[in-house]
Amino acid sequence: MKAYNDVKGWMDLTRAWMDEKGLPETPAEAEKLRDVLRFHEYQYYHLDRPLITDPEYDRLYKKLEGWETAHPEKVTPDSPTQRVGKSLNTQFATVTHLVPMLSLENSYDANDLQDWDRKARELSDAPIVEYCVEPKYDGASISVIYENDILVRSATRGDGVQGDDITVNSRQIRNLPLRAPFSRYGIQTIEIRGEVVMTKKSFENFNTQLMENGQPPLANPRNAAAGTLRMKDPSEVGRRKLEAFLYHVSYVAETTPNTDGRGSEKLPDTHSGMLRMLWDCGFRSPVHEMLVAKGIDDVVRHCGRFEGQRDDLPYEIDGMVVKVNQLEVQERLGMTTHHPRWAIAYKFKARQGTSRLRSVEFQVGRTGAVTPVAKIDPVGIGGVTVSSISIHNEDYIREKDLKLGDTVVVERAGDVIPQIVRSVPDLRTGSEKSIHFPTDCPVCRSPLFKEADEAVWRCINAECEAQVVERIIHFVSKDALDIRSFGEQQVRKFYELGLLKDIPGIYRLDYGKIGSLEGFGKKSVDNLQQAIEQSKSQPLYRIIYGLGIRHVGETTAKMLAQRISHLLDLKELTVDQLMQLEDIGPKVASSIYGFFQNIKNIQMLAELENLGLTLQRAEQETGDAGTFQGQTFLFTGTLSRLKRNDAEAIVEKAGGRILSGVSSKLNYLVVGEDAGSKLEKAKKIPTIRILTEEEFLNLVAYDN
Ligand code: IVH
Repeated sequence: MKAYNDVKGWMDLTRAWMDEKGLPETPAEAEKLRDVLRFHEYQYYHLDRPLITDPEYDRLYKKLEGWETAHPEKVTPDSPTQRVGKSLNTQFATVTHLVPMLSLENSYDANDLQDWDRKARELSDAPIVEYCVEPKYDGASISVIYENDILVRSATRGDGVQGDDITVNSRQIRNLPLRAPFSRYGIQTIEIRGEVVMTKKSFENFNTQLMENGQPPLANPRNAAAGTLRMKDPSEVGRRKLEAFLYHVSYVAETTPNTDGRGSEKLPDTHSGMLRMLWDCGFRSPVHEMLVAKGIDDVVRHCGRFEGQRDDLPYEIDGMVVKVNQLEVQERLGMTTHHPRWAIAYKFKARQGTSRLRSVEFQVGRTGAVTPVAKIDPVGIGGVTVSSISIHNEDYIREKDLKLGDTVVVERAGDVIPQIVRSVPDLRTGSEKSIHFPTDCPVCRSPLFKEADEAVWRCINAECEAQVVERIIHFVSKDALDIRSFGEQQVRKFYELGLLKDIPGIYRLDYGKIGSLEGFGKKSVDNLQQAIEQSKSQPLYRIIYGLGIRHVGETTAKMLAQRISHLLDLKELTVDQLMQLEDIGPKVASSIYGFFQNIKNIQMLAELENLGLTLQRAEQETGDAGTFQGQTFLFTGTLSRLKRNDAEAIVEKAGGRILSGVSSKLNYLVVGEDAGSKLEKAKKIPTIRILTEEEFLNLVAYDN
């Protein structure tokens, strides 16, 4: 098989399958198509650098699926089509780990690490020890086994000796390869440890969805990942977008080396070498985040650096893990019954705190949902003062047994919204009071309603002021029409002053009047006007999302935009037709249907079109289209083959965006000659990929 760095070769094959070829005709052809799909999975999930769009991938996938349906006996277990398995209707089977999964000893500061280093030096009888430091992922630990290059078993940690067999669910983790070329290293069987995590972004989306469905959100991504791994329905696991990080090889059984071209690579003798091997075999191991250092001082510095950048990472970490790097020294140090002596966790400062629940306010959202918000005594958690926390709904208050006056434990996971983890009933004095839910809307006073299968009380008066304002705020927000100079504060102010009363009103604002308001100089009015004008040509999916139709998030909006040529086409679709679309169930379908059957909504859309909004899908708009859709770039230094402007135009043409500075929002920094401080800064942010001009050209080569 072609090496994955032959991007051009793989893209030529991809184009052939996309443009010229129909379904595979022979088993060998089917296997070639599988390899093409595996290459794109590797680009997408492993390198985070997709080279084709989702619809293009789907087209190739369907060709393979078509052939496999006609030849079911020729389907291989490692085929990209074989990630989805059958739902479990019994318990998970219990399996025994090849090597028990021990825990780690904890350390909390530089002194602890120095003490530990002293012991490691004494025990290993070495003046200086080489360490490998890597993030301590905050998720659910798993153990996976590959035999003859195929993923054969995945298990949860369980009690450390035995865990649950979650192989079927783990196949849904798209960055966990179903096949990996360990035979190159002469490996027949390998057991690998890792952590399954849900990224902060996926967690946020997941919780939003839970709340839209009237279910209480989960407290943190760790609980979300652990709960997802133990679900009975693998396709639901797939929807929740888990990722696996692999960080420890616990067992290896070797084949006879150098037979049939096997064993051509040497088995590493260091931990960092093992991580590199895992990376080269297609796993997400911490090769870009790790530091290999002689002695403990650099280790301490690296831990401190990561603690400072914790919030900039796309996933949660709760510390660092320091490991003795030489495997032979690890063996000499051995382990206790509880933990290895060659590794230690360095725990970051806790992100929990306690406070007192003083009162509850009830807020009305854009869908009329009434959300109780707990007002607590201000408490500092991870550098942020928290005084207000959503407590979601009546059921949540009951489940968490919350009372006014209670001491509560509050957790803030990075930039994830703070949550009340639990109350502490033991500290009650008897003066605590129950929380009563209102029966009428706190804003418009109409009676509240609750659907049978929901936990949320709603105000169903669509004219309710609170809902109208929230709908406008949502319409102008970043993921919707993205009207930059128009924030929540401005919307509220204009609404209160009677300058704005509905969504079309955004495009009829009286800039003369706004200019006369305090705090609105000419420049800010011009900026606002310009931003509003620009929003008229935003892609269709942003408008669909901005309408705030219940259960229609950004992904559904993108999918819908790809299926229509004009927004009002949605008016013609029945619930059944909507349900034929990807990932749309009865609830979402009837919500969309209901929205487009409401004459007021249709009138509003017609009004928006008259005011100049583009409700037609642009030719090139296919949601996630361009190769770099959603990706951000920055060029620094002098490029030798491209002019800076041309390079930037290439990125923009492919759907990417150019940023003006280095931050955690940057995906790629392309570095020319004499790159300076931007490069230095980017090196400190592990999620930024640094490319040479050559590598950038390779990435775009097939496009030109
Ligand atoms: S090494 C025998 N490395 O932390 C050594 N563990 O508190 C096995 N964890 O149970 C563990 N990131 O679930 C290791 N980079 C990392 C880790 C890591 C997260 C978890 C793991 C372990 C727990 C111990």
